[in-house]
Amino acid sequence: MQHETIEKNIGLMIVLIIVAISFGGLVEIVPLFFQKQTTEPVAGLKPLTGLQLEGRDIYIREGCNVCHSQMIRPLRAETERYGHFSVAGEFVYDHPFLWGSKRTGPDLARVGGRYSDDWHRAHLYDPRSVVPESVMPSYPWLFENTLDGKDTPAKMRALRLVGVPYTDEDIAGAEKAVAGNKEIDAVVAYLQQLGTLLKSTR
Ligand code: HEC
Repeated sequence: MQHETIEKNIGLMIVLIIVAISFGGLVEIVPLFFQKQTTEPVAGLKPLTGLQLEGRDIYIREGCNVCHSQMIRPLRAETERYGHFSVAGEFVYDHPFLWGSKRTGPDLARVGGRYSDDWHRAHLYDPRSVVPESVMPSYPWLFENTLDGKDTPAKMRALRLVGVPYTDEDIAGAEKAVAGNKEIDAVVAYLQQLGTLLKSTR
């Protein structure tokens, strides 16, 4: 085909441009679906417990992810502040991902184990009690609301459908494990496991 034919026929040119760009995109994206590095969980990755899972849902409900990302980029400024950069294998069981990019507050991808449970409780009750200059909102109602765990097994079953390896025992025991805990217990349990698998390499 003559180059001139393409240049003088805008419809054909649009189609060929779309083909060229799609091909370029596919060559970059499709291999990622098959690379072990992006699809295999990192060593030791376990699905969240019932309580941690409820904590994650509260984290989403309260919009914590609107101010906090969970994604450490492989740049020196980030790894010095937060620890090992995030790797795909850490998020294999995350539905939906909470990576984000807006950082009104610090990244939380490796906050697990950085503070005590008591620090988190004080901080979530009144951030200014531990960080005087903080602009983070207070979440006092987390200390009042009690979880009944009734929906936890159904949530786990739904996650199992999309590949999170919950066992029948995990699901059977979930309601009892969650019931009676306050929402704050769930949120702290969720925060304390974040990013702990790769912490040692920091
Ligand atoms: C309006 C934005 C905003 C929202 C919403 C928000 N935070 Fe924060 N968060 C901040 C800011 C700013 C800081 C830094 C100051 C501080 O430590 O309080 C922070 C700090 C933190 C820290 C300490 C991080 C560190 O490495 O020192 C944790 C943990 C945290 N937030 C958890 C949460 C949780 C859980 C929620 C939801 C219940 C939440 N945040 C909602 C803005 C926010």
